[in-house]
Amino acid sequence: MINKPHIKKVVCIGAGYVGGPTMAVMAEKCKGIEIKIVDLNKNKIDLWNSKDLTKLPVFEPGLSSIIKKVRGKNLFFSTDVKGAIAQADIIFISVNTPTKTYGYGAGFASDLKWVESCARTIANNANGQTIVVEKSTVPVRTAQVIKTILESNKDTNSNKSFAILSNPEFLAEGTAINDLFNPDRVLIGGEDTFAIEELSWIYEHWVDKDRIIKTNLWSSELSKLAANAFLAQRISSINAIGAICESTGADVREVKLAIGSDQRIGNKFLEAGPGFGGSCFKKDILNMVYLSKYFGLQEVSNYWEQVLILNDWQRKRISKLVVENLFGNINNKKIGILGFAFKANTNDTRESSAIDISRELMAEGAQIVIHDPQVSEEQISNDLNNHLDKTYEDKLASNGLWWTSKDYSEIFTNSDAVIILTEWEDYKNLNWTVFAKLMRKPAWIFDSRSVVDPDLINNLGIKLWRIGDGTINK
Ligand code: NAD
Ligand code: UGA
Repeated sequence: MINKPHIKKVVCIGAGYVGGPTMAVMAEKCKGIEIKIVDLNKNKIDLWNSKDLTKLPVFEPGLSSIIKKVRGKNLFFSTDVKGAIAQADIIFISVNTPTKTYGYGAGFASDLKWVESCARTIANNANGQTIVVEKSTVPVRTAQVIKTILESNKDTNSNKSFAILSNPEFLAEGTAINDLFNPDRVLIGGEDTFAIEELSWIYEHWVDKDRIIKTNLWSSELSKLAANAFLAQRISSINAIGAICESTGADVREVKLAIGSDQRIGNKFLEAGPGFGGSCFKKDILNMVYLSKYFGLQEVSNYWEQVLILNDWQRKRISKLVVENLFGNINNKKIGILGFAFKANTNDTRESSAIDISRELMAEGAQIVIHDPQVSEEQISNDLNNHLDKTYEDKLASNGLWWTSKDYSEIFTNSDAVIILTEWEDYKNLNWTVFAKLMRKPAWIFDSRSVVDPDLINNLGIKLWRIGDGTINK
């Protein structure tokens, strides 16, 4: 049982999309607490410490202004992981937990090697009573692994003691700052009442007590996977309905309005799109599939896997219909891609549908020019060239190629088609009248994010495909 005065020193291991924004908001709201974010990646820490706030490694609306206020005051970024741990009252483990690519459970289970390595470094370097918090998304019962490592590495005559808590993060990229300032809930799972109350005390600086849910460790760990699985399932459901709309003359936006008005279903998270991306939905559902199978629940495993199968199908469906509509041939045709991030307002491309769709189009010999307001050319290059998926590599036609441009004229000039894959605000406000004229006719806009006004595009003499819209081009 932990029992000491209120927390003064917080450490977060992992300066990524979760660690950075989460701790920045905590620092802003808890001026009396000193927070250190540590990471082994020196390049990343240098960028977090960069004077030029446009260079922060994570793009997130509202983040840079908070960093400006708290960095160097009560928020610090460092590569000194051990030194920070030695002084910490509470340590958040916020490292990556991607899908395992090797050995048992490859392709499904989460790779916990980074979590385990954190537990060992904490065991060796912590002093006195330390609260260890799982912030990363992990399979159920991971807290037991952390606990076992911490307990068995404890020097018998030292004064070290640990309490393990689960405190999964529910922020979504692009809206992280708002999600952190006004969370629907904060979830704390644990056994040690004092440690639970201490973590709750931190959040109570800005979150109402009635939004802080306290559960046992395992409910907390499972709730995080379950929440993502439910959310991803909604997108695969609406995308399946969108495809039916296209074949029947219905419009998925109208269907969304009609079904979303039933409060039991609700209108949020029901936008049809090119398939969900991001670093978490796929890996967390794969993990759920793996866990279900592990516990002998084959049907449950199949059920969740189907959500992913539908997502892959949605991406292939979009690239295929582009080819079909361009007379079954896109070899040497110029195709513009608007948006490479997995959603708007982030520079993250992990599992973005744009990667698969671009590669499928290149495999057919297309020349694609890619625009994204926040994703760097270097990132796009990593995603398109260093893909480990050999089947894609094999399929790549020798004359398919890609390049990037920030200039809309270059995207549209002589393009046979422009595909909207991310719902950036900029794309809603494009001067379509000017850009449509630059395209080679017959020209197509493929809008997978319901960004354009269909009447406007049709009046410009451009052919339009819109996600889940069976009312046009019939
Ligand atoms: P990320 O890859 O952006 O960041 C993780 C960081 O941890 C990296 O910078 C890496 O260098 C660092 N790291 C790994 N091992 C380390 C070690 N032993 N010592 C020090 N640093 C180490 O990942 P992320 O997107 O921030 O996700 C982190 C976790 O949070 C994952 O489990 C993820 O599932 C979960 N999560 C992510 C989101 C999201 O929107 N990205 C939301 C909720 C939960
Ligand atoms: C998601 C969850 O929303 C967060 O609650 C969770 O904390 C996080 O995963 C995580 O565990 O990492 P995130 O992946 O950042 O957050 O972004 P989402 O807004 O959920 O979008 C995921 C994907 O679904 C995007 O590609 C998005 O475009 C797509 N999507 C989302 C749709 O196609 N339609 C929608 O209605 C909503």
